[in-house]
Amino acid sequence: MEALINKNVTVLNHPLIKHNLSIIRDKNSDTEKFKNALKRITYALMYEATSSLPTQKITVETPLMETTCEVFDKEAQYIIAPILRAGLIFCEIAQELLPFANVHHIGMYRDEKTLEPVWYYDKRKEIKKDKSKVFVLILDPMLATGNSAVDCIKNFISKGVLEENIIFMSLISSPEGIEKVTSNFKNVKIITSALDEKLNSKGYILPGLGDAGDRIFNTVD
Ligand code: URA
Repeated sequence: MEALINKNVTVLNHPLIKHNLSIIRDKNSDTEKFKNALKRITYALMYEATSSLPTQKITVETPLMETTCEVFDKEAQYIIAPILRAGLIFCEIAQELLPFANVHHIGMYRDEKTLEPVWYYDKRKEIKKDKSKVFVLILDPMLATGNSAVDCIKNFISKGVLEENIIFMSLISSPEGIEKVTSNFKNVKIITSALDEKLNSKGYILPGLGDAGDRIFNTVD
């Protein structure tokens, strides 16, 4: 399903994703259509984003015999980190698939002039567990300038999370955003469903889908 750009960047490449992306990109798709198409892609992104998470073996009794199965490592901590507000669109499905994960909301918005992130909410604490067992999945549908992504990743690292245990999941990414994240962090994984052409002067992805938050929450003027 996936096309690997380099060892840490995966762009999903599948007819179901392309089909649903065409609905999402269409400015005439209403909020309901937009959200439903985005949810369908979220499942695919989540399968890829969780593919390297650790598992452990357990014994299960089927109605016929005992067998060995694999489950997510019970000793590990899994953190889902949606960047508000657009990242919330991924959160429900991420929680459905990882019901034992902690959800740490990241409140930041983009200063329209500098395009730099402005933080307004961060309740995360220092990591106390064995660091090798803490995994963070950052959720943001648009990897545009990469400024918020880099800030958010730096913040998790400053709290004790290992770079190689951080996964950034986006719907659409720009080449500039990918370059920004991969040049700052050699070990963070990026999973995305589209790599678009470029950014415009306002930091929007082209062709993109417009403002993700506005389209998700129906606040388009
Ligand atoms: N954020 C968005 O919502 N859309 C873009 O194109 C870039 C950043």
